[in-house]
Amino acid sequence: TAFSCLLSRAFSHRPSFGIAFDIDGVVLLGNSPVGGSPGALRKLYAADGTLKIPYVFLTNGGGYPEAKRAFELSQLLGINVSPSQVLQGHSPFKQLVKRFGNDLIVAVGKGEPAAVMSEYGFKYVLSIDEYASCFENIDPLAPYKKWTTKLCAAQNAKFNDSVPRNDVFSERVQAAFVVSDPVDWSRDIQVLCDILTTGGLPGRNVGPQPNIYFANDDLEYQTKFPSERLGLGAFRIALESIFNRIHSHSLEYTCFGKPHPSVFKNAEIVLQKLVGSLYGDFYDIDHDNASKFETVYMIGDNPAVDIKGAQQTGHPWFSILTRTGVFKGKENHDKFSADLVVDTVEEAVDYILEKES
Ligand code: G3P
Ligand code: MG
Repeated sequence: TAFSCLLSRAFSHRPSFGIAFDIDGVVLLGNSPVGGSPGALRKLYAADGTLKIPYVFLTNGGGYPEAKRAFELSQLLGINVSPSQVLQGHSPFKQLVKRFGNDLIVAVGKGEPAAVMSEYGFKYVLSIDEYASCFENIDPLAPYKKWTTKLCAAQNAKFNDSVPRNDVFSERVQAAFVVSDPVDWSRDIQVLCDILTTGGLPGRNVGPQPNIYFANDDLEYQTKFPSERLGLGAFRIALESIFNRIHSHSLEYTCFGKPHPSVFKNAEIVLQKLVGSLYGDFYDIDHDNASKFETVYMIGDNPAVDIKGAQQTGHPWFSILTRTGVFKGKENHDKFSADLVVDTVEEAVDYILEKES
């Protein structure tokens, strides 16, 4: 097409910029593309499908291993996304393998939270469903719930192979990881309070509070529903408020995800490596010898998360706010004002390509 000719002329050399796309509220609403995202992303590839412009997805969401999410995004958007281009809220959890790799840990959230942690190298992981299934009567509301979890105490055969069932009654849970939005808040708050107050050994009260990590602290995010939905940050507030009322010490916890500058700095490194692999030059992270980007664009919908994060990180980040998600204002956001406000992700990509050509 004429556009790809223009693209190959303009970007026959290594681009001096990269793009980070937020997912929810920018590229997708639920599982549906929004804002012309498939077309916008296709503009970053040459006519033969080769990637020309380095880009990553920088989402606070998650629940599936990066490779599975990359495959799903490829299907939904009609492009070829590689696992290295998918940076999720929980991706930094892999750094904690050094600390908890051989300890009993519990993984919480929608999707396949235990598979995510196993993929990162944690050897001794239970999902909260598996953990709860070991204890009869742990959830007094279970008989009133119209759904059943895939596991129950009687289904030993389906229990996680990597954790002998008896260990659950004798081993301390050293850490809980909230990988993605919890599905059953009442059960998960109850069971996390048990784990955090007893080390996962109900009836006993052994040792200090196990560590708890959250993949993000988003109060709200955008789905297909017209108004924002409660996110992981809302769950954290609920859990923390209850824990602090039933326990003498305040909850100690760590949240990952945007807006932390470390997330943006890591995305920049991933983009540097990607541009290196596309244009054949070598990026040595230890010697930091990459020619730096002049600009890295963050296209996001949440002022307090995407725009705040890009701004806190500073050079070379340039923030673009869309109106397809959490932000619905006419002008710029008053507190976290973006470098540019557009209606859709397609408009954002057109702006970038024109500015950079
Ligand atoms: O659960 C996902 C949500 O909190 C944010 O996702 O893609 O907008 O960063 P995203
Ligand atoms: Mg978003």
